[in-house]
Formats: sequence, C-alpha cells, structure tokens
Amino acid sequence: MKKELADLLNSQVNFELYSAHIYLNMSCYCRAESLDGFGNWMDIQYQEEITHAKKLINYLLDCGYTPIITNWEDSPGSEYNSILEVAQISLMHEKVVTERFNYMMNKAKELDDFATMNFLNWFINEQIEEEANFEKMISQINLVKDAGLYLLDQEYASRTFVDNTQE
Ligand SMILES: [Fe+2]
Ligand SMILES: [Fe+2]
Repeated sequence: MKKELADLLNSQVNFELYSAHIYLNMSCYCRAESLDGFGNWMDIQYQEEITHAKKLINYLLDCGYTPIITNWEDSPGSEYNSILEVAQISLMHEKVVTERFNYMMNKAKELDDFATMNFLNWFINEQIEEEANFEKMISQINLVKDAGLYLLDQEYASRTFVDNTQE
C-alpha cells in the first residue's frame, strides 16, 4: 500500500478511537441521567468503534505498515443537554466518518489499490447502518418525547454486542 493511503488509514484508526471516547462519554451522560438503556446502547457503540479501529490496525499490519496510536486533537466533551442532543451530535459525527471513508475510497481508487478499495467497502456499508441507527433514534425520541422515553429506554437496554468485523 502507498504510504499516502496508509497514513489516511492510520489517521482513521485514531479517529475510530476518538469516536469510541465520544460514545463512552455519552454512555456516562445517559447513566448519570438515569437513562441506563441508552447508556447500555452507547456503551456497545463504544465497543463497536474499538473493533473498527482494530480492523484497520490489522489491515495496516497485514500490508506491512506499523500503525501509530495517538490522541485525537479535540477532546470529545461531555456536556449534553438532552438525549435528543446526544443523538443529533452522534448523527453529525457519523456523517463526518462517512465523508472520511469516502475520501479514503477515492484515494484508493486514484492509486489503483484494489485490495484497499475492497477492504474499505466494509466500512462504506457499515456507515449506512451507523447513520440509519441515529436517524432512527432521533425520530423515535421525537415521537415519544418525555412520557414514552422510559419505554424507549427499555428497548435500548436489550442491545447485545456482536463483533461484526468477523463477518
Ligand atoms: Fe466506526
Ligand atoms: Fe461509528
């Protein structure tokens, strides 16, 4: 793999870890607000982002590139005003992630790196689900508002972790 592209993937390793920290922060916020179900869901989102970082790390190593793990410049921040705001910020964040993968895919295409294009395809597809999850969360919160929030919390409590990077 060309260094230029490997560097972009390495940057994404660190961005996935940054995403993980954002969702762990959100999980803490939800739990502090007694929304334990959303807290559970966000904690699983945190775990998923770690598996994304690992998937990128493994690919870089397979290509003979040693990833470098750094902190992301921005601090994730943990000041939220509502669960609706948490979901809206998450959706905005996932849109940034999608743009980053589209950019990497373009670069791989430019360099005729078919193996990396094939690898990146998994993430491009995964982003459809990532955005859809938060779109749905936003609409559901808007639908139920306060009275139904407790019931919705029960639903989010049932999410279990599946490592889908192995599929
Ligand atoms: Fe991710
Ligand atoms: Fe994500």
